[in-house]
This record gives sequence, C-alpha cells and structure tokens, in this order.
Amino acid sequence: MRDLREPLRRVRAAFEDAGYTVGAVRELLGPVAGGALARDEIVPALRATGGGSPLELLTRLFWLQVPVDAAALDAAGLDGRDLVAAGLAEPSGAQVRPLLHVEPLESVSGEGHAGYAVSDLKVRPGSGTVPAPGHVVGTGGASGNLARLVVHRPVDNVLDLGTGCGVQAVHLHDRLRPGRITATDVNPRALELAAMSFELSGMDGVELLEGSLLEPVRGRRFDLIVSNPPFVVAPPGDRRFTYRESGLPGDDFCRRLVGAAPEMLEDGGYCQLLANWLHVEGVPWEERVGAWTAGCDAWIVQRDVQDPAEYAELWLRDSCEAGTPEYRARYDAWLGHFERQGVTGIGFGWITLRRSERPAVRIEELRQAVDQPVGAYVESILDGFGNAEKFSTGCGSRLRAAAGLVQEQHGAPGAEDPERIVLRQTARLRRAAGVGTVEAALAGVCDGTVPLDRLLAAIAQLTGMDADQVRAHAEAVLPELIADGFFEPA
Ligand SMILES: C[S@@+](CC[C@H](N)C(=O)[O-])C[C@H]1O[C@@H](n2cnc3c(N)ncnc32)[C@H](O)[C@@H]1O
Repeated sequence: MRDLREPLRRVRAAFEDAGYTVGAVRELLGPVAGGALARDEIVPALRATGGGSPLELLTRLFWLQVPVDAAALDAAGLDGRDLVAAGLAEPSGAQVRPLLHVEPLESVSGEGHAGYAVSDLKVRPGSGTVPAPGHVVGTGGASGNLARLVVHRPVDNVLDLGTGCGVQAVHLHDRLRPGRITATDVNPRALELAAMSFELSGMDGVELLEGSLLEPVRGRRFDLIVSNPPFVVAPPGDRRFTYRESGLPGDDFCRRLVGAAPEMLEDGGYCQLLANWLHVEGVPWEERVGAWTAGCDAWIVQRDVQDPAEYAELWLRDSCEAGTPEYRARYDAWLGHFERQGVTGIGFGWITLRRSERPAVRIEELRQAVDQPVGAYVESILDGFGNAEKFSTGCGSRLRAAAGLVQEQHGAPGAEDPERIVLRQTARLRRAAGVGTVEAALAGVCDGTVPLDRLLAAIAQLTGMDADQVRAHAEAVLPELIADGFFEPA
C-alpha cells in the first residue's frame, strides 16, 4: 500500500480547521435532519448542508457520502488533492466523490472530540446493493455500547480484537499511559482502514496484526482486552459478512474468547466484549453462558433477547437484504438452522471479565436504561460482587449506603404502614429492590461512621424487634444488596 501518512496528516489538519466533529455536525443538522439520518434518510441533511462552508462540504462528502463540486472545495479553502492523495476520495468530472466513510467520534463522556473512524461507504437500505463480504463497517450502536462499557482505569497495554475501522482503539488512546495498543483483525482491509483512522486521529505506534481470534497475540498478556466481535449467529457455512460472522458454529467465537481471557490477561486485567448467546431448549441461558468463564470475576449482562424470527429479520435488514429475491430463502434457512439446534431465542449482552484469584460471578438480565458511560463505574460493580461474598455484620464492619438512593412506599392511601418498601438507585445501574424495615432504616443511617452491629442493635431497640433476629436478617439480605450496589463497605 502506498504511504498515505503525509496526505492523511494534511487532511487531519483540514478536518480540525473545519471543526469536523460530532458536536458541530449535530448542530449543523439540527434535530429533524439528525433524526432522519438516524433512520437512513439523507434528504433533510442535504437540505441542511447546502451552504458551501468547509464543515458542510466535509459532512456531505464523508458523512452523507455524496459527491461535491471541486470548485466548491476550492472556494472553501479545502484541498481536494489531499483528499484524493489520502485515498479518501477520487475525482469524478468536475466533482470529488467519496471512496470511504469518515466519521468524527465523540468521547464516551459525550464531552469532546475523540478522533476519526474510516470505514467502507455505508450501504443504505433500498440502495439495491448488499455489503461486500469483506466490508469494513463503521461505528454503530454496538460499537458505542462497548466504548461506553470499557473500564476507565489507566492501562499500559491494550488489545482491540477485531478492530475493524479502529473505533475502540481510537476511544482508548487518550486513556492509555505511555504504552501500547495492539489492534488485530482477520480482514486485512480492516487493518488498512484502521491505520487510516489512527493517522487521522493523531495516534502513533499502534501495532496492527492480521489473524483470527487470539492467534496473532498468542502467549502475550494485556491489561485490557476489548472486542466487539463478529458475534452474529448465522447458519453454518454461511459466513457471508466478515464484519459480523466468524464462521465458527453458534456462539463459539464469544465462548472461546471468554474462555481464553485468564491466560491473556495480566493480574487484575480486564476483558470486555459484546456478545450474542443462544438460548437452547431445556438449558437456562445463565447456566450455558456461565460455563464459559473461569479464573475471572465475571459480570455477564443480558440487555435484550430476540426470538429466532426477530433475529433473522434483524440481520437480514442489517445487510440490506429485505426485499431481495433471496430474502425468503435466507430467512427460511436461518429459522431451519435454529430449529435443528433447539434454539428458542438469542440473548444480546455485555461481558466484563477481570482476572482474579477468587472469582466472583454475576449473570443477570438488565433491561432498564443505565447511567452512561458504564465504564466510569464498572470497577465498583465488580468490587460489589466480591464484597458481598466477604460480608459479615461482625467485627466492627461498616457500611455506607450508595449515593442517590431514594425510598418509595407503596400501600393503600391513608394506611398507617406501607405494604411494600422499595429502595431505588437514581444513578449508575438504577436498580430497584423491595426491602424490609431493617434495610430501609439502615439505608437512612449508614454513612460509614458507625459500626454495623451498633446500628442493627439501635434499629432493634427502636422497632421493638428481637436483636438476634435483626442481625440474622441483616446477614441474610445484605450480601445481595451489597452485590447490587445499594450498600458498600466503608
Ligand atoms: C462487529 S465488527 C467490530 C469492529 C469494531 N471493533 C467496532 O467496535 O465497531 C467485528 C470485527 O471482527 C473482525 N473479525 C471477524 N472474524 C474475526 C476473527 N476470526 N478474528 C478476528 N477478527 C475477526 C471483522 O473483520 C470485524 O472487523
């Protein structure tokens, strides 16, 4: 490949001068055109970007993927030759035509610019084309979910497995102590585009390695492994799109990655991935997926479940195949495969692993909206599982109620006592738990200053309950509330 670094550096300077960032594009488009674009409709966005400023021209060319007049680029002070020399566009008569999709990335906190991601031109539904087998996909809901899940602790040494357009690595580079990012992919074209993303994002020294799964990094250990893997479960022998299908049977790619984590991580190192998993007749999904992990603390969260028909439709729509002559046959093949495997549903979720001597594991369904970015507090979520296992009310142990808890009381109007008390988190995972009087009282007084046994004795006295019973009740219910983040050791 010709050396694109110099022209890419000039393009990066032009992008920065034009202020080509997510915030600026969002403001330029406004809510209506932005909303339409989220539905893959570009007409309102074209109307909003007709003014000829550098930002409008770059948005048209690289976000909306339409040609622009070379003369308009000149007039706006943008050098079309640099865009061509960098491999991002090509001349087409009096116009310049995009060859690649280039999108700015917002930092995961939503408060700043993170860099750029270069990917293949987006294939829009209704365009009459489907992605090529080696299509390199740009950012989407899944990549954003993973970027927001990734732990915020400083790290020296990161692996982005299945880097694609390089989006995860771009998000990570300013969180890295002087160290190294390794980005791997089985698709050589993905590595080429990721290298362009890194150059446009001002990132030096990223190690790019071609190969499948852990093959290119065998024997090495990392502080952090992130992967938005090719998790789509497709009929066997039907590896049609490298960006989403691994060619391994069922959910094996994710299983293998999770199983290999302990030998790939430094002590206390994290592996975080998105995954799909099968729900198979007669086996609880938690049991199946739980059996994937060993040697690590694990937090496995199911965010959604689809039935086989919804799943086949989702991915046929993703590859713009709805309405094609093959649609029904592919749909049928997908359903037939799931039926033969006894698949009743497919779970979508997050997996966070932390290498640990004494693994604490939590596998759960979590459907509610949660505070983002989860990565800002994911360490304390994992700590909570371990703390729950070590918890005891004795020996002067102290607890603190989580910040932002509220108490809800439910019951008939005018009734003296509530029928039900609910503690609700107003931050982080926003969990709710039905509790008894003892836990509710504790939540009101636990600020970490007074030992728990003294608080429990005081609650027993105030409520007229037996002190031993109050203590035994607390021993029984507090571990779950600690694991769920309602209380933490002070
Ligand atoms: C869903 S894309 C994720 C891209 C990007 N990391 C993101 O977060 O959006 C999955 C990536 O995994 C790559 N891939 C597919 N099979 C692989 C394999 N066996 N080993 C490593 N990477 C693979 C694909 O080429 C693709 O770039």
